[in-house]
Amino acid sequence: MRSHLKFSGVVAAAAIAALTIAMPSKTAPAQELPAAKDTIFARKILMGAIDMNMDEIETMLAPGGKLELAEAQEHSETISTMLMAFPHMFPPATNQWKVGAARDPATDTFASPDVWTNFADFYQRATEASKIAWSASRAKRPADFKAFIVQLRERCNACHALNMKTD
Ligand code: HEC
Repeated sequence: MRSHLKFSGVVAAAAIAALTIAMPSKTAPAQELPAAKDTIFARKILMGAIDMNMDEIETMLAPGGKLELAEAQEHSETISTMLMAFPHMFPPATNQWKVGAARDPATDTFASPDVWTNFADFYQRATEASKIAWSASRAKRPADFKAFIVQLRERCNACHALNMKTD
């Protein structure tokens, strides 16, 4: 009994020591996340790559363009994958847009603070757009592919209207 008590005392002391180590102090960063500016840069180039793939597709679908369905569908599948990853790149520290602040379009974020006030909606929009891009990548007929791409473009624009600052 005595030794048992003594043992629990040791365990408790060890547990407290572990807690003390595990509890971050107020000044320490909460988590070992990459620097906010690096995450912002990563999501901007990811979106940039989504845009380049979309541009390839829309050029093929434009008047005078020639649709190579297999190639266009590869672009669409790539967009789908990237749109799935995209909303995972919005940790709170990257909520940095400010009214009237001078911004460098190459490195500063244009993501609206609204992303974080309704993150579930933002996440769902990314997921839905990703699914549409996936459906386009699997469409059997050019006409179906085209219809999905029109829908996808609407999703790009709708999400930007709500979640991006243009000034
Ligand atoms: C779920 C919302 C959402 C969807 C869907 C979405 N975007 Fe974006 N997009 C954003 C946000 C937010 C930013 C701003 C990112 C930042 O500045 O941190 C952005 C930025 C961009 C940019 C600017 C990139 C840069 O260099 O800063 C382009 C171009 C773009 N999107 C194209 C597209 C295209 C094309 C699609 C559709 C295929 C699309 N987006 C779908 C939310 C979305």
